Amino acid sequence: MVRLPALRSCCIVFLLTIVAVFAACNSSSPQSTFDAAGPVAREQLRLFWIIFWAAMIVFVLVMAVMVYSIIRFRRRPTDGIPNQVHGNAVLEIIWTVVPIILLIGIGVITVKTLFDLDQPPSSDPLRVEVWAHQWWFEAAYPDYSITTANEIYIPVNRDVSVKLMSNDVLHSFWVPKLAGKTDVVPGRVNEQWFRADEEGVFYGQCAEFCGTAHALMKFLVIAVPETEFNLWLDQQRLPAVIPTELAKVGATLFNTKGCIVCHSVGGADSNEIRESRSGAFLAGQMVSHGPNLTHFGSRDVFAGAIMEVNEENLKKWLQDPEALKPGNRMSSLAGAFNDPAMELSTSDIDALVAYLLSLK
Ligand code: CUA
Repeated sequence: MVRLPALRSCCIVFLLTIVAVFAACNSSSPQSTFDAAGPVAREQLRLFWIIFWAAMIVFVLVMAVMVYSIIRFRRRPTDGIPNQVHGNAVLEIIWTVVPIILLIGIGVITVKTLFDLDQPPSSDPLRVEVWAHQWWFEAAYPDYSITTANEIYIPVNRDVSVKLMSNDVLHSFWVPKLAGKTDVVPGRVNEQWFRADEEGVFYGQCAEFCGTAHALMKFLVIAVPETEFNLWLDQQRLPAVIPTELAKVGATLFNTKGCIVCHSVGGADSNEIRESRSGAFLAGQMVSHGPNLTHFGSRDVFAGAIMEVNEENLKKWLQDPEALKPGNRMSSLAGAFNDPAMELSTSDIDALVAYLLSLK
């Protein structure tokens, strides 16, 4: 007989497990795949439910037969040696053929979904080129000469075709509410498409372990109405303005402290710029390709979308980036954080922050 305290602890463990399991299923979580916001994610969710319920039915049937057999055919004290049997052809055929039919069915539905979702239905999707870097995402809009970082603006109800590239290590591009994961592989171009059919901010995340700051490699997909998107495009194509005196001091420091070596501010980055910086890094120089800052002040987040853009956060970032995002390239490569002669004073930081925030 089970003793009461043991039974009670079993119940508590069971209930805690249930709570933990169901807490993960909260569809209002920002990265829940159970709250699809576009056709690609919805189709993938549909496939998940088909497979889930097929597996659930099999599980319940097998468990029911097993529990029944355990109880009905358990050994009793009066039993002698049971009948010796050597298999049952009918049963064996059933439990071989039924799973084969089930797996073929699931295979057909899965492959059909893969083919259905291979290309965007629209002939004129918004084209976005995404570069995954250690440890942030860069987005370029080749039709509009725009390069941005950590945020991807898209219009609602329009197909978005994304080219995925990396020139360091493997990453994976994932916006759970819009589409499944696609690996980003150095040396090849992978593609994905999605569409948001509601406005909103959708959280994305690198989903392949890619080094120290992998968990801090996030990004946002911001879906806005077409008119608002066009305004964003216009604003991103204007030259950035530097109105205040303090911001002008910051602009000078941005050059003299060497920030400009890794970060562009004068418009979009070309592939040549990206490759030459990455090549220099691989050759052991104190250079890496950093986020394009042309319109930094217009962004909501920075540093792999882990922090909100505001004066306080930027000051903290420029004081000690390593404390906020361990492993980031800037803290190990930039002169300001490695060469005492180049160190940033409090007034330098104030001026740089004013400059960065003025880049609207
Ligand atoms: Cu990039 Cu993980």
